[in-house]
Amino acid sequence: MNVLEAIEKRRSIRSYTQQPVEKETLENLVRLAVKAPTGSGMEPWGFVVLQNAEEINRLSDQIKRRVLDDLDAYPQFSQYESWLRSGRYHIFNNAGTVLIIYGDERSPWHVYDCSLAAGNFMLAAENEGIGCCWIGFAEALFDDPEFKAAHGVPEGFRLVSTLSLGYTKVAVPPCSRKEPIFFSWNK
Ligand SMILES: Cc1cc2nc3c(=O)[nH]c(=O)nc-3n(C[C@H](O)[C@H](O)[C@H](O)COP(=O)(O)O)c2cc1C
Repeated sequence: MNVLEAIEKRRSIRSYTQQPVEKETLENLVRLAVKAPTGSGMEPWGFVVLQNAEEINRLSDQIKRRVLDDLDAYPQFSQYESWLRSGRYHIFNNAGTVLIIYGDERSPWHVYDCSLAAGNFMLAAENEGIGCCWIGFAEALFDDPEFKAAHGVPEGFRLVSTLSLGYTKVAVPPCSRKEPIFFSWNK
């Protein structure tokens, strides 16, 4: 698959087969992820992989509870209240793998760099038949000092991106987008 096909085909995938994503596959995708551009050449990224189903389920419940217990603190999630109240809704889409990308705050560019790495990862995953979904809800928990310490994340690293992923079970047709707006052109 060439990169243009991957860009055309990529969608947020929320339904995965039971097939685990092997360590070598994940390592190769992360190797490609970090080929992203990086401000001042600082490469300010670090990764956490979760593949324990019990832990992933527990974290999903924890995030739902935390957001619902204090919706005012999470205005960005209030529109999803009914999802969060549903017993069936799983924050990580029942994925067997969750990839978390942390950015080193010593780089002024860490949010850009890690987001570009996440983009690379998602496009490269497309070639493996692996679907991904960026999980903004994870912000409610994965930047906690306790969570980071428990997962070996050094001080000074901040959560940038969380992806749920797995071999795609239910594919989604290519996306359509609004016409891009050009604020000016040769003005
Ligand atoms: C910053 C960000 C946060 C997102 N958070 C979530 C999320 O928590 N749960 C989810 O199911 N999708 C999440 N998404 C996926 C978007 O819903 C999705 O990208 C959008 O609907 C466009 O669909 P597409 O990715 O298939 O083109 C997020 C995407 C981004 C970029």
